[in-house]
Amino acid sequence: TRDLPRCKTDYVILGSGIAGFFTALLAGRLGAGVTVLTKQSILDSNTDKAQGGIAAALDTDDSPELHYRDTLLAGAGLCDRGAVRILVNEGPRRVLQLIDMGARFDVEGGRLALTREGAHSCRRILHACGDATGAEIQRVLNQKALAEQNIQVLERHLAVDLLVKDNVCYGVLAYDCETCRLQVFQSRAVVLATGGLGQLYDHSTNPEVATGDGIAMAYRAGAEVMDMEFLQFHPTVLNLPGAPRFLISEAVRGEGAYLRNGRGERFMPRYHELAELAPRDIVVRAILQEMHQDPEQGVFLDLSHLDPELVLHRFPNINRTCQGYGLDITRDMVPVAPAAHYMMGGVKTNYFGETNVERLYACGEVACQGVHGANRLASNSLVDGLVFGGRIVERTAGLWREPMSPWPDFASDLPEPAEPVDYQLLQRKLQVLMSRYVGPLRNREGLEKVLGYMDECAQSVNTAALTPLAAVTANRLLVSRLVAEFALMRTESRGGHFRQDYPTPRSSWLKHIILRK
Ligand code: SIN
Repeated sequence: TRDLPRCKTDYVILGSGIAGFFTALLAGRLGAGVTVLTKQSILDSNTDKAQGGIAAALDTDDSPELHYRDTLLAGAGLCDRGAVRILVNEGPRRVLQLIDMGARFDVEGGRLALTREGAHSCRRILHACGDATGAEIQRVLNQKALAEQNIQVLERHLAVDLLVKDNVCYGVLAYDCETCRLQVFQSRAVVLATGGLGQLYDHSTNPEVATGDGIAMAYRAGAEVMDMEFLQFHPTVLNLPGAPRFLISEAVRGEGAYLRNGRGERFMPRYHELAELAPRDIVVRAILQEMHQDPEQGVFLDLSHLDPELVLHRFPNINRTCQGYGLDITRDMVPVAPAAHYMMGGVKTNYFGETNVERLYACGEVACQGVHGANRLASNSLVDGLVFGGRIVERTAGLWREPMSPWPDFASDLPEPAEPVDYQLLQRKLQVLMSRYVGPLRNREGLEKVLGYMDECAQSVNTAALTPLAAVTANRLLVSRLVAEFALMRTESRGGHFRQDYPTPRSSWLKHIILRK
C-alpha cells in the first residue's frame, strides 16, 4: 500500500443504505469529515428495496414493552435482551428524526398509518407510498447525504480489505471501479454498513451487491463473527418463470391475504395458531412442505377476498410489478416461493457498534449484537440500522478530534496474484450448492458435501488479483463457508436454522457460536 494514493478522512463508512447514510449524516452534522464508499450506486441497497416498513412503538395503543416481547418471541430464545431494549426504546426517537429529515410516511385521518406483519401483536409498522417504504427512506438519505458538505460519497468504490495492524483498524484499501485503480483511505474510524449476503443464494430478495463483503473483510482482519447459521428466508417472493424473484411484502398477509396450496386449500391454520402471520421461519417451512407434497402445483397468495380499493391503495408497487406479468392481484392467485432475505448473524459488536478490532465498527445487517436472535421480527431491520448507527456516532464523538495515529507500514500485505480462475462459474456453482444444502432445510450430509467443494475452491481463490470480480468471489466463498460451518456446528433447529437431522430446539444450544480467524 506504500505507493498507493492515500486519502485522509475522519470516518470511512462502507455502504450507503440506511445504516451507512444515517451514520454518515449524524457524524457529518457534528463536523466530522466522512467518506462513504459504496460498491455500485447509492440506489443499490436493500434499504431501497424494502417494502413493508419500519417498526416503532409510536401508537398510543402500543408500547416499547410490547415491541420488546414480540421481538424476543420471534428471536426464538437467542435475542440479546439488552440490545432489544435499546432497539425498542430508542427506535421511536430515531424514526421521528428520519421524519424530521423529510421522510414522508403514509398518514390516515391525520395520524401515521400503521400496518401489521408476522408475529407483531399490534399494528406498529410505518410505511410510505403504500409499499415502497425503503425507496422513500433512501430518497431522503441520498438527498441529505449528497447535500452535506462534510460527506464525500464515492460510488463504484469496492472496499477490498481493511487495513489492520496489531488489532487496530487504520483504514481501507478500495478499488475504484471506474478508473480501475486501488486507493487507500486512512481514517480514525471505519464503519461497516455493507448489508447482507442474500446473493450467496440463487433466489434472493437482495440486490446484486449483497454478497457478504463486510463480513468477509472483517473476518480476514481478525474480527469476531457470530450467529452466521441464522439466515432468514422470506416466505413470499413472486415465483413465475422468467420473472425476477420480486418481494411480495408480508404486509400483504398483514392486511389479510391468505396462502393457498395448489388444491386451493388455505393451509397455514394447520401449521400455527397465527396462521399466515406466524413467524417467518414457520411460514417458510410450511410452504416448502406443501410444495413438496404437490411439486407440480406450487403455492399462492390470495387477495381476492380483500377490498380491491384497499389492495390497490396499499400495494401500488406490487400491483404494478405483478400487472407486468399479467397478474391482477385483486383477482388472480399470485404464485409465491421463499427466497433468501436477511442475515441475523454477522460481525459481532457491543451495544455501541464496536467490534473486537479497535476503531472498527459495524451497524445494520452486517453487524450482530444479538438484537434479532435466531429470527428477526418483520420490519425490525431498518430501525436497527438507525438505532445502532446512531450509537456509533455517539460513541466516537470524541475520536475524530484527536490527532490521527501515524500510518503503519502495510507494504508487504498485498497477496500474490493467483492463477486465472473462471470466477463467474465458481460463483454460480456456489449459489446452487448454498441453495440446495445450506438453505431453509439443512443436514449433516449436505453441509459436509458443500464444505468439501469449498475446500477444493479455496486453493484457487484469494483476493490476490485485486480485481473486483476476484475480490468479491473470495468474499462469497469465505462467507458461504462461514454459514455452512456454523450450520454444521449447531446440532439443533431454532429460528432461521433448521436441521432435518436435529429437528427440535435443544436447551443446551441456548447460546451463540462466535468465531474468529
Ligand atoms: C416485507 O415487506 O415483507 C419485508 C419486511 C422485512 O423483511 O422486515
